[in-house]
Amino acid sequence: MKVAVLGAAGGIGQPLSMILKNNLPAGSKLSLFDVAPFTPGVATDLSHIPTDVTVDGFTGDDLTKALDGADVVVIPAGVARKPGMTRDDLFNINASIIANLVRNCAKTCPKACICIITNPVNSTVPLAAEVLKAEGVYDKHRLFGVSVLDVLRSETFLAAELGISNQRIQVPVIGGHSGTTIIPLLSQVIGHEKISAKRVEELTARIQNAGTEVVEAKAGAGSATLSMATAGARFALKVVKGLLGEPGVNEYCYVEGGSKYAPFFAQAVVFGKDGWKEVLDYGNVSEFEQKLIDEAASQLQANINKGVEFAKKWIAENK
Ligand SMILES: NC(=O)c1ccc[n+]([C@@H]2O[C@H](COP(=O)([O-])OP(=O)(O)OC[C@H]3O[C@@H](n4cnc5c(N)ncnc54)[C@H](O)[C@@H]3O)[C@@H](O)[C@H]2O)c1
Repeated sequence: MKVAVLGAAGGIGQPLSMILKNNLPAGSKLSLFDVAPFTPGVATDLSHIPTDVTVDGFTGDDLTKALDGADVVVIPAGVARKPGMTRDDLFNINASIIANLVRNCAKTCPKACICIITNPVNSTVPLAAEVLKAEGVYDKHRLFGVSVLDVLRSETFLAAELGISNQRIQVPVIGGHSGTTIIPLLSQVIGHEKISAKRVEELTARIQNAGTEVVEAKAGAGSATLSMATAGARFALKVVKGLLGEPGVNEYCYVEGGSKYAPFFAQAVVFGKDGWKEVLDYGNVSEFEQKLIDEAASQLQANINKGVEFAKKWIAENK
C-alpha cells in the first residue's frame, strides 16, 4: 500500500503521518507532500521511527512524484478556522487548493481512494467529484469526506455522560460535517434511556459545536489537529484494510451514497477492495433526530451546490 498525505507538514498532517507511520501494514509506503519547504524534513524525522513503513517527503513541483502509485490519498491541505469563523468561511481559499490537488490525483493516481479532511467538507467533496468527473475518472466508491471526528467526539462525550468506558460506546453520526448538519443518533446508544430529552438536546448541540469549542480554546492558533489526526488515521487505516480485502470493516463518512435527503450524506459504509462497497442503513431514529435530518437536508444541498458551482467555474477557467 502506498498512502500519500497532502498537507503533511500542517497541524493535522504531521501527527496524522506519524500515526500512519506507526500503524500501516509492514511493507507500506508513506508519501508526504506539502507546499511547506521543510516537508522532506518531516519525512526524515518520521523515517527514524523503527517500523517497516518507508517515508518520503516532497514539496514544490514534486506533487506528481508524491502521488505516483498511491492507493490512498489523504488530504488535510488548506487553511483552518480562527475564532469567529465558520467552516464555510474557509471555502474561498480551500476550494481552489482542493480542485488543484484532486486534479493532480486524477492525472497521476486515478484509481486512488481520496479522503478529504479539508473544510468545508460538505462542499469540498462534491467539488472534488466534479473535478474527477471532468478528468473522466470519477468513481463515487473511491471518494470520501472524512467526518469521523464527529463520531470520536460523540463517543467521548456519551461515554462520559453514561459513566462507561470509551471502548464500550458506539455513536452513529450522519448528515454532514458542519454545524446543524452533524446529526448524532443518540437514540441508538446503548443506555440512552437514562438520558433526559433536554440533556439529549444539550449533548447534540455540544457535538455539533465541538469543533468551535477547540477553535475557541486554541484562541487563534487553529482548529482541531490532534483529535483530527487520530480520526483521520483511523479512517485511512480502515480504507487500507478494505483495499487489502479484510472483511467487515466499516466507518461513518460523507459519500455520494444514494441518500434520499442529499446526494452527498454522511453515513456508515463498508469498505472493500475497490473503496466503499455498500452503505449501511442507519435504522430507526427518534422524532427529534428526524427533525434534525429534515432540517439539515436543505443546508446540505446548498453546501453541495456551492462546491459543484465552484468546480464548474474553476474547470472552465483552468483548462
Ligand atoms: N474534517 C474534519 O473533521 C476536520 C477537522 C479539523 C480540521 N479540518 C480541516 O483540515 C484542514 C487543515 O487543518 P490544519 O489544522 O492541519 O491546518 P494547518 O494550517 O496547520 O495545515 C495545513 C497545511 O496545508 C498546507 N497546504 C496549503 N496549501 C497547500 C497545497 N496547495 N498543497 C499542499 N499543502 C498545502 C500548508 O502548508 C499547511 O502545512 C483545514 O481546512 C481544517 O478546517 C477538518
